Parts: sequence; structure tokens; C-alpha cells
Amino acid sequence: MQNMNKVFELAQLGRYTLSNHLVMAPMTRSRAQQDGTPGELSAEYYAQRASVGLIITEGAQPSDDGQGYLTTPGIYTDAHIQGWKKTIDAVHAKGGHIFIQLMHAGRMSHPDNTPHHRLGVAPSAIPPKTGMFTATGMQDIPTPKALTIEEIKQIIQDFKHAAKSAIQAGADGIEIHGANAYLIQQFLAPSANTRTDEYGGSIENRARFAIEVATAIAEEIGADRTGIRLSPGTNLWGIDEGKEGPELYRYLVKELNTLGLVYVHVMHQGNEELLSDIRNLWTQTLIVNRPNHPREKIGHDLKSGLADLEAYGQMVLANPDFIERLKVNAPMNEADRMTFFGGTEKGYTDYPMLSQT
Ligand SMILES: Cc1cc2nc3c(=O)[nH]c(=O)nc-3n(C[C@H](O)[C@H](O)[C@H](O)COP(=O)(O)O)c2cc1C
Repeated sequence: MQNMNKVFELAQLGRYTLSNHLVMAPMTRSRAQQDGTPGELSAEYYAQRASVGLIITEGAQPSDDGQGYLTTPGIYTDAHIQGWKKTIDAVHAKGGHIFIQLMHAGRMSHPDNTPHHRLGVAPSAIPPKTGMFTATGMQDIPTPKALTIEEIKQIIQDFKHAAKSAIQAGADGIEIHGANAYLIQQFLAPSANTRTDEYGGSIENRARFAIEVATAIAEEIGADRTGIRLSPGTNLWGIDEGKEGPELYRYLVKELNTLGLVYVHVMHQGNEELLSDIRNLWTQTLIVNRPNHPREKIGHDLKSGLADLEAYGQMVLANPDFIERLKVNAPMNEADRMTFFGGTEKGYTDYPMLSQT
């Protein structure tokens, strides 16, 4: 319990005072309507979890091209803005804070899953060599279309528009999804990016897209409402950052630091030395998510000074009253993987509160 002292204190995140130092990690739940408007239950789901210091929503695509999976929400049309507004208002009514994650899936997409049914787009025409769930079951992901420079510039505009839309919906800020093998990390990794122009090759060139997206969004909504998620060393779905990986992240984090973004959120993949370098290079808030971190270690990274905020995914998914349960040292519900993606209120809004058990 001695790790817990700081956990429940108020936390400062840029202009926002959070009610504690714990964050709900972004989690795709694939329950949006067909047009990408957040579904009926989204407001209830997030409001149930509003006692965490900060909610980072599931990834929301900034454009038709940005969608990868079935029934994920978008944040680029008026209907999306109105839909998100209901969720955001419900979280704010409970005193919570909420950032929308902007996720462009890049090559991790299938034409059957997108509104325009086009091929996914990517830095280079290299397929991820994996399958994806579609309405007709698992299918191989086809080779993506390599982006032209003009198309890259358009995607940056799409991100900017999505960030503006998120703020119009009332969000406290946005998180750029630069992690987990999606478009931004596809640019970072030589295994997915073999471009010979200014977006490929050297570390500076491979980091350029991430930096340009962050710069454009920060200009649009303010650096103090712009965060970014990174997962250095991910080797999911054909992503390999090579030996230069850690150096690339030191460069990227240093550059992002000059923009003054409100936070970097690291989904930690195991390189402790790099994580500690990022801590030293980054002068703003650092959020750390350690996958499958045991409950007993909650607060450990806060106490050591490595993290300013700690993020948890599945424990918050399965425990709407995660904070309360921690405070009274009560057992946690187990997350049910069968209901992670798609479906109804089952496994979404029906996890019991402590008071109901
Ligand atoms: C159902 C599910 C959906 C996820 N969707 C996203 C997502 O949309 N964006 C993202 O950055 N990470 C996503 N993640 C990763 C989580 O944010 C988190 O990093 C991961 O679950 C490890 O943390 P945990 O062990 O505390 O759950 C997802 C994880 C799960 C379980």
C-alpha cells in the first residue's frame, strides 16, 4: 500500500487538474454505428469510468482512409462530433477529463471494413502479413497503397481537422496514436517504410511524419491539449524498428519536447534504459502504461519518479469503479476477452460495481 500515497492525490496535466494520477488507457471497443458515430452506450461506458484522473478514449479515425477495423468511431463529420459530445458531456458531468485518441490505421486496414472500400494506405507498398477480422470473418490484409507526398500532406490536414472536431465535441484534448504498428509507427519502422524521399531513410526522415502531425495539431488546438502515444520496440504485425530504434525515439522525443506537447504516453515494451532516457529528455508529463502490470505494482512508477501518471487498460475496462476498488483494496472483476470488440452492453457497460456485488 505504500506505493499508493501519490496515486490518489490531485495531478496537474497542463491546464487541467485531475482527480488522481491514474489514466484509462485507450481501448478500441468496436461498438460505433455504421457511419462511425459513437454508439448509444458509449456515454454510459465512459461516464461509468469517469473517476479515473484521465480517460483516453478508444482510437477514433480522422478520415475514411484512417479506419482499420469494423465499427470503430470516427471524429471528422458533424454526426461524429454530435455523438462524441454526448460521451464527453457525460464524463464532464461526473467531474472527469477526457482526451480522444486519433488513430490512423494505415496499412492495418481491410477494404471490407472502410466506408469507401479502398486499399489501406502506408508509407510503402508492404503488407503487414497478417489477417484482420471483417464482416465475413478473418481475411488476409492486402498490400497497401504507398502514399504520395500530396497524400501525406492531406493526412496531416485530416489529423488537424479531426483534432479540431474533437475540441468542438468538447474534448479536453487529443492523443495522437503513434504506437502499436499503425500509420505513424509504420513511418518510423524501416520494415514498413522503404521510401527514398524526405519521409524515409534516415532517423530524421522517418520521424518527420510524426513530428509534422504533432506540429499541425498543436497549432490547431494548442500544444497543451495535444498528447502522443508511442510504443518503442513494438514488433507487432511486421513492424521492426531495427537497431536504430532507441536512437530514433531519443530524437523523436527531443523534437516533440520542443513543441511543448502536454504529454508523451509510453506503452512500454521492455527497454527500461530507453524509458528512463525518455523520462530525462521529456520535460512535460510522462504517462507510462506497462502491459499486464500487476495490481500490487500500481503507483510504483509514480513513486520512483519515472512516471507522472500511470495508465491501465483492461483493469479499468472490467472495473468501472477501479479507483474505488483500489482505495478500499477490494478484488477486481476479470476482463472478458470475448466481449472486447463489438457486440452489445454485455462486457461493455454491465461490469458490476463493488456496490452491486
Ligand atoms: C480491447 C483492447 C483494445 C485496445 N485498443 C487500443 C487502442 O484503440 N489504442 C491504443 O493505443 N491501444 C489500445 N489497446 C492497448 C491498451 O491501451 C493497453 O496498452 C494494453 O491493454 C496494455 O495495458 P493493460 O495491461 O493495462 O490493459 C487496446 C487494448 C485492449 C485490451
